Parts: sequence; structure tokens; C-alpha cells
Amino acid sequence: MGNGGREHAIAWKLASSPKVGQVFVAPGNGGTEKEDLVKNVDIDPMNFQDLSNFALSQNIQLTIVGPEEPLVGGIVEYFSDRGLICFGPSAAAARLEGSKSFAKRFLQKYKIPTAGFQVFSTSDSAIKFVRTLSGPIVIKKDGLASGKGVFICQTITAAEEVIKKCFSEKKAGSKELLIEDFLKGEELSYIVLVDGEDFKAFSTSQDYKRANDGGMGLNTGGMGAYSPVAFVDDALEQKIIESIVIPTLRGMIAEGSPYRGFLYFGLMVDPSREVYVIEYNCRFGDPETQPIMMRLKSDLYTAILATLEGKLNGTMLNFDERTSVSVVMASRGYPEAYEIGHPIAGLENLTKAKVFHSGTKIKDEVLETDGGRVLAVTAMGSEIEEARRKAYESVREIHFSGQTYRTDIGRR
Ligand code: AMP
Ligand code: GLY
Repeated sequence: MGNGGREHAIAWKLASSPKVGQVFVAPGNGGTEKEDLVKNVDIDPMNFQDLSNFALSQNIQLTIVGPEEPLVGGIVEYFSDRGLICFGPSAAAARLEGSKSFAKRFLQKYKIPTAGFQVFSTSDSAIKFVRTLSGPIVIKKDGLASGKGVFICQTITAAEEVIKKCFSEKKAGSKELLIEDFLKGEELSYIVLVDGEDFKAFSTSQDYKRANDGGMGLNTGGMGAYSPVAFVDDALEQKIIESIVIPTLRGMIAEGSPYRGFLYFGLMVDPSREVYVIEYNCRFGDPETQPIMMRLKSDLYTAILATLEGKLNGTMLNFDERTSVSVVMASRGYPEAYEIGHPIAGLENLTKAKVFHSGTKIKDEVLETDGGRVLAVTAMGSEIEEARRKAYESVREIHFSGQTYRTDIGRR
């Protein structure tokens, strides 16, 4: 379920399993439509009724959810009530992403390191508080916001404006704002497969959130990613597991909502190598999925079945030792207004990279742009520099009107 590069990469990986006969993607994109053994079905991921009717009519054995909205909305329970297997967290467990105030209170309760924070339900109390602060001020809306609910303000005046704007918005949903301490360091994505108690990691990865080179410009969904991340050694990974992953899984069991599914830890590693949770996501990352699936040697379908049977403990996730780099080609203007509907050329003869489609469609047999993020051009190399070079050589063969991309992916 889903229509991005993440879903293309997951569908591509599933289709490579000898145990998988056919993959359907609802609604998919131009890339999934062209993939062998993959078919698009035009159903919206929030239309649980049509999705489950389709799954029943096609005798679908396993449904995997790409984006967070259906999970937060309870699709796993909905499918289960109709006798269908849907892999992902329950709505209660998906609150780790769906409600930032739930996640922060959870982190605090289970003593998992995270930025200090306060929750406010009125504009006046929030403004009074920020007037006591200095340095960058981090303001977060509660609820899902597709990466657009976080504001990092350099001045108190800017913070006051954000607070007033957030509280005056008429949109439904939570009326709470979080104000957090600003964390410094390197961000890291740590994504795991969880069966309630046990977990297996999908290696390490890092994405590039800002629109422009050098980490400048607006926050986006992600302009590129790579895996694995060289600065994470065994000791650091062990610290992540012991101080963050295990307490999270135990905490969810204690809350009565054991977590099953993909769980994404958005982490900050500070200069003294202390690790903090910035956020949880109840799904795979986009674009982190693309380089991770390139490296995953194990059968994803088998691993998910083992997870569903509670047998993850006896399963291994094996990865190619090489590094994989994924460069996102976007439509000029993204993450703000951009054009769609431009034909895409140059994909036919690429040999050095796999191109996962993020926002494309096929119209009258022509592949055209259909989103802010358009393609994730993904290559492997024994060194990151080789992967980077192959990815960018391929990027330069691809053309569409208004194309833009960062030139520093894999070079941090
Ligand atoms: P989130 O949606 O919570 O992941 O936040 C989006 C981005 O804002 C993160 O990936 C970070 O780059 C940044 N961010 C969020 N919270 C903090 C924080 N407390 N300190 C520093 N940067 C943050
Ligand atoms: N790449 C960040 C995310 O998927 O949330």
C-alpha cells in the first residue's frame, strides 16, 4: 500500500522472493507498474473497505503498509476483523508516530533518552515559556504532519509567530504543541523489524532532510540516503539497542500495545556519542528504504512471515557488505509548489543504478513526473565514493523538465 519510492523498493524486493507469485500495489506509481510480477490497483490507502474487498477477492496472503496514515487509522485491526493478514502495528502502537505527545510521554516514562520537552495547550502559556529560552527553539505540532509539523526557530519572535499560527489554525486534530530542547549532532535512522518482543535491524542508514546542498533550505521528506553509516561502530549500535530499542519494545508491552511491524527510530548522536530519540515512525523510512532494500540479501517475505508467527528470534537479516547510495531527483520547487506532468527520459539504458520511482505515472504510455520527489536513483559500491559516483553518473543520464537534486548525497 502506498505510492512512493519506499513502496516501489519494498514491492521490488518482495517480487524477487521465490515464494511470491504476484505483488499488487495500491495505488502504486509508474515504477511499480513497470516492475516484473507487480501490478498497480487504483485504490486509495485510506479506503479500508475497498482494499480489504480487493484482498479478499484476490485471496491475498499478506498485506504490507507503506505509509503511516492507514496504520494510525487502524488498518491492521480492520483487516484482521475481516480475516486478513496485514503486517504493521495496531492503531494503539502506531501512536508512537501518530501522537508526538504520546511518544514524548512514553519516552519520559520509560527513561529513554530524548530532548527535554514541555507540552502546551494554550498560546499564552507557550509564549510565556519560550520567552524564558535562548538558542534555537524546537516547536512541534501534535499529530501527523508529513514532516511539516516541526519548526526550528532561531529567535523568540519567530517562535512566537509559529505558536500563534499553530493555535489559530482551524484544522481538526490535536490542540497541543510541544516545545523541545534543541539537540546537536548527527542524525541516524535505525529501522527494525519487530514481532512484539524480538527485533532485527535493517542495518543503519542516514537521510538528507534539507532541500539543498550543505543542509541548506527547507525540510523535505528526504533528498537522498545511504546505508550503512560508517560512524556507527558495534559499541554505538549496542548502546542504541540497550538504551533505546529494548526499552521501547518493553515499554510498549507494558502499555498493553506490543509493537509489531517496522519501527523507525529517528536518532541524534551527539559529539560525545550519546544517543537521543528525535522521533519514532511506525513504518519504513523514505528514502532510507531504497538503499536498504538494495543491500538486503535475505528474503523479506520470509522474514515478515516469521515475524507474524512470532519466530523472528530464529531469523537473520543479511546485508550486502557494500554501501548503497540513493539520490532523489525532485521537481523544482519541492517541498513547496512544483509542476507535474513532465515526460521523463533516459531511464532505458542505465546499468549502474536501480531507479525507484517516488512520484511518477504512466499517461498514454509515456512516463511522466507526478510528485515533488520523482525518482530515487540508487547504486552500490564497495566504498561509499564508488556508490556515489555510480548514482550520480546515472542521475546525469536522466532528464525531465524542472529536475533538481542535491549534489552532496553520500558526502557528509
Ligand atoms: P521530526 O519530524 O520530529 O523528525 O523532526 C524533523 C526534523 O527536525 C528532524 O529530522 C531533525 O532534523 C529536526 N529536529 C526535530 N527535533 C529536533 C530537536 N529536538 N533538536 C534538533 N533538531 C530537531
Ligand atoms: N526519511 C524520513 C522519513 O521517512 O520519515
